[in-house]
Amino acid sequence: MKHTFTRRSAIALSALVLAAGAHAQGAEKLKVGLMLPFSGTYTALGVAIENGFRLYVDEQGGKLAGREIEFIKVDDESDPAKATENVNKLIRRDKVDVIVGTVHSGVAMAMARAAKESNTLLIVPNAGSDAVTGPMCAQNIFRSSFSNWQSSYPMGTVAARQDGKKTAMTITWKYAAGEEMTNAFKEGFEKEGGKVVKQLTLPFPNVEFQALLTEIASAKPDAVFAFFAGGGAVKFVKDYAAAGLNKTIPLYGSGFLTDGTLDAQGDAAQGLFTTLHYADNLELPKDKSFRAAYAKAFKLQPDVYAVQGYDAAQILRVGLDAVKGDVSKKAEFAAAVQKAQFDSPRGTFTMSRSHNPVQDIYLRKVEGKENKTVGVAAKALPDPARGCKL
Ligand code: BEZ
Repeated sequence: MKHTFTRRSAIALSALVLAAGAHAQGAEKLKVGLMLPFSGTYTALGVAIENGFRLYVDEQGGKLAGREIEFIKVDDESDPAKATENVNKLIRRDKVDVIVGTVHSGVAMAMARAAKESNTLLIVPNAGSDAVTGPMCAQNIFRSSFSNWQSSYPMGTVAARQDGKKTAMTITWKYAAGEEMTNAFKEGFEKEGGKVVKQLTLPFPNVEFQALLTEIASAKPDAVFAFFAGGGAVKFVKDYAAAGLNKTIPLYGSGFLTDGTLDAQGDAAQGLFTTLHYADNLELPKDKSFRAAYAKAFKLQPDVYAVQGYDAAQILRVGLDAVKGDVSKKAEFAAAVQKAQFDSPRGTFTMSRSHNPVQDIYLRKVEGKENKTVGVAAKALPDPARGCKL
């Protein structure tokens, strides 16, 4: 076939050459879609994740794999009903290179579905939905945080084995995170001979706890396990203490119950035991430098959410370095992340086959304004990744 080289095709060709050149020199910005809650009960969590992510990028001179970052932000409102539309704005309208989000497990599942369908890179900086690194696991989906199972199973074993509790009740919001964490606590507790006698729930993000606290008071279990986070955790811990239950029935939780919330919870949180992959007194060199840099940059103490945001950026850098900034090379990106050891403020972690951190889970006790580690509840704990076919 005969080709005619017109003026228009010459312009198109030079535009292509320019674009390719800009990419090769790393001049094209990397579009990062931050889909996080910037309103509602999880607002502080979203802000801490963004702060942590930006801190890591700033430490790299504002670039990852030689590419400057353009942030595009979406407030997901922790609303699963709006999640598909919100994530598709980032994928289809803004054509982001990578999505970082989110906090709420129900929203994260919709994001994982859209990321999988469009083969867009997704790094989850909090939401623990077991499905994301279970049946929904994929080459292009990573988590810098935890699975819901991972955060709470060890609390069940400690409450039964170490503290000798025989009966427990659980209380949480009725959605994936609450159900998976309370079920994981039950699994650990019952494996060690305890019995969970009742599992109480209320709709997310409702904070009218009174009727359920009355039920706990009359049932008198040996212990209560709770998952709440953000604003809801503040109110629950205060209401539990105001009802006098902290004097009679020990309250346990996954660490979200007391992380980033201690200023607001005050005396009501003192002495509470929780399990989590971070604590305020780890004294690791990486943690010390992270805490000092975070406090300087944001005039705030960091919490677990800030660490997860920081490590999401760290995961992105490791993958991008391996593919020289070319996000289309998903297999090479994933292979590099899976080979890496991440020097995190929480301690070193690696990535499992399903792309979830393999990490120590600390037993923590609230003392003053700190979640102090008093031991390791589970060493280098992987998520079971039930249903993951990677
Ligand atoms: C979740 O929905 O997965 C979640 C939310 C807040 C803290 C921890 C987990």
